[in-house]
Amino acid sequence: MKTIGVLTSGGDAPGMNAAIRAVVRTGLANGLRVMGIQRGYNGIINGEIFEMTSSSVSDIIQRGGTILRTARSEEFRTEEGRKKAYNVLKVFGIEGLVVIGGDGSFTGAMKLSNEHGVKVVGIPGTIDNDLAYTDYTIGFDTAVNTVLDAINKLRDTSTSHERVSIVEVMGRRCGDIALYAGLAGGAESIIIPEQPYDFNELCRTIIESKAKGKMHSLIILAEGVGGAEDLAKKIEEITGIETRATKLGHIQRGGSPTAFDRILASKMGARAVELLLEGKSQRVVGIRDGKIIDMDIVEALSMKKKSDDYMYELAKILSF
Ligand code: F6P
Repeated sequence: MKTIGVLTSGGDAPGMNAAIRAVVRTGLANGLRVMGIQRGYNGIINGEIFEMTSSSVSDIIQRGGTILRTARSEEFRTEEGRKKAYNVLKVFGIEGLVVIGGDGSFTGAMKLSNEHGVKVVGIPGTIDNDLAYTDYTIGFDTAVNTVLDAINKLRDTSTSHERVSIVEVMGRRCGDIALYAGLAGGAESIIIPEQPYDFNELCRTIIESKAKGKMHSLIILAEGVGGAEDLAKKIEEITGIETRATKLGHIQRGGSPTAFDRILASKMGARAVELLLEGKSQRVVGIRDGKIIDMDIVEALSMKKKSDDYMYELAKILSF
Protein backbone atom coordinates (compact mmCIF):
# COMPACT_ATOMS: atom_id res chain seq x y z
CA MET A 1 0.00 0.00 0.00
CA LYS A 2 1.40 3.38 -1.05
CA THR A 3 -1.42 5.89 -0.62
CA ILE A 4 -4.15 6.18 1.99
CA GLY A 5 -6.95 8.68 2.50
CA VAL A 6 -8.49 10.02 5.68
CA LEU A 7 -11.89 11.64 6.20
CA THR A 8 -14.24 12.65 8.99
CA SER A 9 -17.95 11.98 8.57
CA GLY A 10 -21.21 12.54 10.47
CA GLY A 11 -21.44 14.82 13.51
CA ASP A 12 -18.09 16.32 14.49
CA ALA A 13 -16.52 15.42 17.83
CA PRO A 14 -13.67 16.97 19.85
CA GLY A 15 -10.58 14.85 19.29
CA MET A 16 -11.20 14.24 15.59
CA ASN A 17 -8.28 16.57 14.81
CA ALA A 18 -6.00 14.61 17.11
CA ALA A 19 -7.03 11.44 15.24
CA ILE A 20 -6.35 13.04 11.83
CA ARG A 21 -2.92 14.15 13.10
CA ALA A 22 -2.11 10.62 14.26
CA VAL A 23 -3.22 9.08 10.95
CA VAL A 24 -1.20 11.55 8.88
CA ARG A 25 1.98 11.37 10.93
CA THR A 26 1.90 7.58 11.39
CA GLY A 27 1.33 7.22 7.67
CA LEU A 28 4.21 9.54 6.78
CA ALA A 29 6.52 7.84 9.30
CA ASN A 30 5.86 4.58 7.45
CA GLY A 31 6.54 5.99 4.00
CA LEU A 32 2.90 6.35 2.91
CA ARG A 33 1.34 9.21 0.97
CA VAL A 34 -1.59 10.51 2.97
CA MET A 35 -4.48 12.29 1.26
CA GLY A 36 -6.93 14.42 3.21
CA ILE A 37 -10.53 14.21 2.03
CA GLN A 38 -12.79 17.17 2.85
CA ARG A 39 -16.47 17.09 3.83
CA GLY A 40 -16.78 13.38 4.46
CA TYR A 41 -17.89 11.05 1.69
CA ASN A 42 -19.10 14.03 -0.37
CA GLY A 43 -15.45 15.05 -0.63
CA ILE A 44 -14.55 11.78 -2.34
CA ILE A 45 -17.39 12.13 -4.84
CA ASN A 46 -16.50 15.78 -5.53
CA GLY A 47 -12.75 15.19 -5.61
CA GLU A 48 -12.01 17.49 -2.65
CA ILE A 49 -8.78 15.65 -1.97
CA PHE A 50 -5.32 17.04 -1.18
CA GLU A 51 -1.98 15.66 -0.14
CA MET A 52 -1.19 16.12 3.55
CA THR A 53 2.21 16.79 5.05
CA SER A 54 3.39 16.78 8.62
CA SER A 55 2.79 20.54 8.81
CA SER A 56 -0.82 20.17 7.56
CA VAL A 57 -1.59 18.78 11.00
CA SER A 58 0.53 21.16 13.08
CA ASP A 59 -1.21 23.02 15.88
CA ILE A 60 -4.48 21.06 15.69
CA ILE A 61 -4.24 18.55 18.56
CA GLN A 62 -5.88 21.06 20.93
CA ARG A 63 -8.64 22.15 18.53
CA GLY A 64 -12.23 20.94 18.55
CA GLY A 65 -14.14 20.30 15.32
CA THR A 66 -12.40 18.81 12.32
CA ILE A 67 -9.98 20.55 9.97
CA LEU A 68 -11.22 18.24 7.21
CA ARG A 69 -14.81 19.45 7.72
CA THR A 70 -17.59 16.89 7.86
CA ALA A 71 -20.91 16.02 6.26
CA ARG A 72 -23.65 13.43 6.20
CA SER A 73 -23.62 12.42 2.53
CA GLU A 74 -26.94 11.44 0.96
CA GLU A 75 -25.32 10.59 -2.37
CA PHE A 76 -22.91 8.11 -0.81
CA ARG A 77 -25.86 6.17 0.59
CA THR A 78 -26.68 5.09 -2.98
CA GLU A 79 -24.81 2.41 -4.94
CA GLU A 80 -24.28 4.90 -7.72
CA GLY A 81 -22.73 7.42 -5.33
CA ARG A 82 -20.33 4.80 -3.99
CA LYS A 83 -19.35 3.79 -7.55
CA LYS A 84 -18.55 7.43 -8.31
CA ALA A 85 -16.53 7.63 -5.09
CA TYR A 86 -14.58 4.49 -6.00
CA ASN A 87 -13.69 5.91 -9.41
CA VAL A 88 -12.40 9.11 -7.81
CA LEU A 89 -10.35 7.15 -5.24
CA LYS A 90 -8.76 5.23 -8.16
CA VAL A 91 -7.82 8.48 -9.91
CA PHE A 92 -6.00 9.62 -6.75
CA GLY A 93 -4.41 6.20 -6.23
CA ILE A 94 -6.01 5.81 -2.79
CA GLU A 95 -5.96 2.14 -1.82
CA GLY A 96 -6.80 2.41 1.88
CA LEU A 97 -9.26 4.67 3.65
CA VAL A 98 -9.44 5.69 7.30
CA VAL A 99 -12.96 6.80 8.22
CA ILE A 100 -13.45 8.74 11.44
CA GLY A 101 -17.12 8.82 12.42
CA GLY A 102 -20.04 6.93 13.90
CA ASP A 103 -22.13 3.92 12.91
CA GLY A 104 -23.57 5.51 9.73
CA SER A 105 -20.07 6.36 8.52
CA PHE A 106 -18.88 2.82 9.27
CA THR A 107 -21.81 1.36 7.31
CA GLY A 108 -20.80 3.50 4.32
CA ALA A 109 -17.19 2.32 4.60
CA MET A 110 -18.26 -1.31 4.77
CA LYS A 111 -20.42 -0.98 1.64
CA LEU A 112 -17.62 0.78 -0.29
CA SER A 113 -15.29 -2.05 0.64
CA ASN A 114 -17.76 -4.84 -0.18
CA GLU A 115 -18.72 -3.36 -3.52
CA HIS A 116 -15.32 -2.15 -4.75
CA GLY A 117 -12.62 -3.80 -2.64
CA VAL A 118 -11.30 -0.57 -1.11
CA LYS A 119 -9.46 -1.32 2.14
CA VAL A 120 -11.19 0.50 5.01
CA VAL A 121 -10.58 1.00 8.71
CA GLY A 122 -12.95 2.89 11.02
CA ILE A 123 -12.13 5.07 14.03
CA PRO A 124 -15.08 5.82 16.36
CA GLY A 125 -15.54 9.59 16.47
CA THR A 126 -18.81 10.73 18.02
CA ILE A 127 -19.78 12.41 21.28
CA ASP A 128 -22.65 9.90 21.70
CA ASN A 129 -20.62 6.87 22.89
CA ASP A 130 -23.25 4.74 21.18
CA LEU A 131 -21.03 2.06 19.64
CA ALA A 132 -21.27 -1.21 21.55
CA TYR A 133 -17.90 -2.70 20.55
CA THR A 134 -15.83 0.04 22.21
CA ASP A 135 -15.90 1.34 25.78
CA TYR A 136 -15.36 4.89 24.55
CA THR A 137 -15.68 6.90 21.37
CA ILE A 138 -13.55 9.97 20.62
CA GLY A 139 -15.28 13.14 21.83
CA PHE A 140 -17.45 11.55 24.50
CA ASP A 141 -15.19 12.48 27.42
CA THR A 142 -14.97 16.10 26.29
CA ALA A 143 -18.76 16.30 25.87
CA VAL A 144 -19.30 14.87 29.36
CA ASN A 145 -16.94 17.47 30.79
CA THR A 146 -18.75 20.24 28.91
CA VAL A 147 -22.05 19.06 30.39
CA LEU A 148 -20.45 18.88 33.81
CA ASP A 149 -19.29 22.46 33.56
CA ALA A 150 -22.84 23.52 32.66
CA ILE A 151 -24.26 21.49 35.57
CA ASN A 152 -21.91 23.21 38.01
CA LYS A 153 -23.10 26.61 36.81
CA LEU A 154 -26.75 25.61 36.89
CA ARG A 155 -26.34 24.36 40.45
CA ASP A 156 -25.38 27.88 41.55
CA THR A 157 -28.47 29.54 40.18
CA SER A 158 -30.80 26.63 41.05
CA THR A 159 -29.65 26.74 44.66
CA SER A 160 -30.11 30.51 44.89
CA HIS A 161 -33.68 30.24 43.65
CA GLU A 162 -34.40 26.84 45.22
CA ARG A 163 -35.57 25.54 41.87
CA VAL A 164 -35.62 22.32 39.95
CA SER A 165 -33.29 22.40 36.97
CA ILE A 166 -33.62 20.07 34.01
CA VAL A 167 -30.65 19.75 31.66
CA GLU A 168 -31.29 18.13 28.30
CA VAL A 169 -28.21 16.58 26.75
CA MET A 170 -27.37 15.00 23.39
CA GLY A 171 -26.68 11.38 22.63
CA ARG A 172 -29.32 10.40 20.08
CA ARG A 173 -30.82 7.12 21.37
CA CYS A 174 -27.92 6.56 23.78
CA GLY A 175 -28.05 7.81 27.37
CA ASP A 176 -24.30 7.69 28.14
CA ILE A 177 -23.67 11.45 28.13
CA ALA A 178 -26.56 11.88 30.59
CA LEU A 179 -25.48 8.93 32.73
CA TYR A 180 -21.81 9.87 33.05
CA ALA A 181 -22.44 13.61 33.50
CA GLY A 182 -25.27 12.81 35.91
CA LEU A 183 -23.10 10.64 38.14
CA ALA A 184 -20.17 13.05 37.99
CA GLY A 185 -22.41 16.04 38.62
CA GLY A 186 -24.39 14.52 41.47
CA ALA A 187 -27.74 14.83 39.70
CA GLU A 188 -30.81 13.90 41.73
CA SER A 189 -32.36 12.11 38.74
CA ILE A 190 -31.05 10.77 35.46
CA ILE A 191 -33.54 10.01 32.69
CA ILE A 192 -32.17 7.93 29.81
CA PRO A 193 -33.77 5.83 27.06
CA GLU A 194 -32.23 2.58 28.35
CA GLN A 195 -33.88 2.73 31.79
CA PRO A 196 -37.60 2.86 32.57
CA TYR A 197 -38.68 6.05 34.23
CA ASP A 198 -41.71 6.77 36.35
CA PHE A 199 -42.97 10.37 36.40
CA ASN A 200 -44.65 9.94 39.80
CA GLU A 201 -41.44 8.60 41.34
CA LEU A 202 -39.54 11.54 39.84
CA CYS A 203 -41.95 14.04 41.44
CA ARG A 204 -41.78 12.15 44.75
CA THR A 205 -37.97 12.37 44.71
CA ILE A 206 -38.16 16.12 44.11
CA ILE A 207 -40.69 16.70 46.92
CA GLU A 208 -38.77 14.46 49.35
CA SER A 209 -35.47 16.17 48.49
CA LYS A 210 -36.97 19.54 49.31
CA ALA A 211 -38.41 18.18 52.56
CA LYS A 212 -34.95 16.89 53.49
CA GLY A 213 -33.56 20.40 53.09
CA LYS A 214 -32.00 20.12 49.64
CA MET A 215 -31.86 23.56 48.07
CA HIS A 216 -32.45 22.38 44.53
CA SER A 217 -32.98 19.31 42.35
CA LEU A 218 -31.01 18.61 39.24
CA ILE A 219 -32.41 16.34 36.55
CA ILE A 220 -30.34 15.19 33.57
CA LEU A 221 -32.50 14.25 30.64
CA ALA A 222 -31.17 12.44 27.58
CA GLU A 223 -32.54 13.81 24.30
CA GLY A 224 -33.60 10.28 23.33
CA VAL A 225 -36.34 10.44 25.98
CA GLY A 226 -37.84 13.78 25.07
CA GLY A 227 -38.28 17.48 25.62
CA ALA A 228 -37.06 19.24 28.74
CA GLU A 229 -39.55 22.13 28.41
CA ASP A 230 -42.61 19.86 28.58
CA LEU A 231 -41.19 17.94 31.50
CA ALA A 232 -40.44 21.18 33.36
CA LYS A 233 -44.06 22.33 32.99
CA LYS A 234 -45.42 19.00 34.23
CA ILE A 235 -43.08 18.91 37.24
CA GLU A 236 -43.97 22.48 38.22
CA GLU A 237 -47.67 21.67 37.96
CA ILE A 238 -47.47 18.62 40.25
CA THR A 239 -44.79 19.67 42.77
CA GLY A 240 -45.46 23.40 42.88
CA ILE A 241 -41.70 23.98 42.73
CA GLU A 242 -40.36 26.40 40.12
CA THR A 243 -38.66 24.40 37.38
CA ARG A 244 -36.40 25.56 34.54
CA ALA A 245 -35.25 23.69 31.46
CA THR A 246 -31.88 24.09 29.73
CA LYS A 247 -31.14 22.41 26.43
CA LEU A 248 -27.36 22.38 26.01
CA GLY A 249 -27.45 21.63 22.28
CA HIS A 250 -24.41 21.92 20.05
CA ILE A 251 -22.20 23.43 22.74
CA GLN A 252 -21.63 19.77 23.63
CA ARG A 253 -19.98 19.15 20.27
CA GLY A 254 -17.34 21.85 20.53
CA GLY A 255 -14.37 22.81 22.63
CA SER A 256 -10.81 21.75 23.13
CA PRO A 257 -10.60 17.97 23.60
CA THR A 258 -9.71 16.61 27.03
CA ALA A 259 -6.39 14.81 27.57
CA PHE A 260 -8.34 11.53 27.55
CA ASP A 261 -9.81 12.21 24.10
CA ARG A 262 -6.49 13.40 22.67
CA ILE A 263 -4.67 10.28 23.88
CA LEU A 264 -7.46 7.99 22.73
CA ALA A 265 -7.53 9.66 19.30
CA SER A 266 -3.73 9.49 18.98
CA LYS A 267 -3.64 5.77 19.80
CA MET A 268 -6.60 4.93 17.59
CA GLY A 269 -5.29 6.96 14.65
CA ALA A 270 -1.91 5.23 14.80
CA ARG A 271 -3.51 1.77 15.10
CA ALA A 272 -5.79 2.38 12.13
CA VAL A 273 -2.79 3.07 9.88
CA GLU A 274 -0.92 0.05 11.25
CA LEU A 275 -3.88 -2.15 10.33
CA LEU A 276 -3.83 -0.88 6.73
CA LEU A 277 -0.07 -1.47 6.60
CA GLU A 278 -0.69 -5.03 7.80
CA GLY A 279 -3.00 -5.45 4.79
CA LYS A 280 -6.14 -5.59 6.94
CA SER A 281 -9.50 -4.19 5.88
CA GLN A 282 -13.04 -3.83 7.20
CA ARG A 283 -11.76 -3.35 10.74
CA VAL A 284 -12.78 -0.81 13.35
CA VAL A 285 -10.51 0.36 16.13
CA GLY A 286 -11.77 0.58 19.70
CA ILE A 287 -10.77 0.52 23.35
CA ARG A 288 -11.73 -2.16 25.83
CA ASP A 289 -10.56 -2.37 29.43
CA GLY A 290 -7.93 0.25 28.66
CA LYS A 291 -6.46 -1.61 25.67
CA ILE A 292 -6.70 -0.58 22.03
CA ILE A 293 -8.44 -3.32 20.07
CA ASP A 294 -9.67 -3.85 16.54
CA MET A 295 -12.61 -5.81 15.31
CA ASP A 296 -14.48 -6.84 12.17
CA ILE A 297 -16.69 -3.96 11.05
CA VAL A 298 -19.79 -6.13 10.42
CA GLU A 299 -19.51 -7.76 13.82
CA ALA A 300 -18.99 -4.39 15.50
CA LEU A 301 -22.04 -2.89 13.82
CA SER A 302 -24.21 -5.85 14.80
CA MET A 303 -23.46 -5.48 18.52
CA LYS A 304 -26.16 -3.94 20.69
CA LYS A 305 -25.09 -1.23 23.08
CA LYS A 306 -26.03 -1.88 26.72
CA SER A 307 -26.31 0.79 29.34
CA ASP A 308 -24.33 0.49 32.57
CA ASP A 309 -26.96 -0.59 35.12
CA TYR A 310 -24.46 -0.40 37.95
CA MET A 311 -23.64 3.25 37.24
CA TYR A 312 -27.33 4.09 36.98
CA GLU A 313 -28.14 2.50 40.35
CA LEU A 314 -25.05 4.04 41.95
CA ALA A 315 -26.07 7.52 40.80
CA LYS A 316 -29.47 6.96 42.42
CA ILE A 317 -28.00 5.82 45.73
CA LEU A 318 -25.45 8.61 45.89
CA SER A 319 -27.94 11.35 45.14
CA PHE A 320 -30.24 10.32 47.98
O1 F6P B 1 -24.34 12.20 16.76
C1 F6P B 1 -23.95 13.39 17.37
C2 F6P B 1 -25.12 14.30 17.61
O2 F6P B 1 -24.62 15.47 18.23
C3 F6P B 1 -26.27 13.71 18.42
O3 F6P B 1 -26.01 13.68 19.80
C4 F6P B 1 -27.40 14.64 18.04
O4 F6P B 1 -28.64 14.01 18.19
C5 F6P B 1 -27.11 14.94 16.59
O5 F6P B 1 -25.73 14.67 16.39
C6 F6P B 1 -27.41 16.33 16.15
O6 F6P B 1 -27.19 16.42 14.80
P1 F6P B 1 -27.05 17.78 13.99
O7 F6P B 1 -25.71 18.37 14.28
O8 F6P B 1 -27.19 17.37 12.57
O9 F6P B 1 -28.15 18.68 14.46
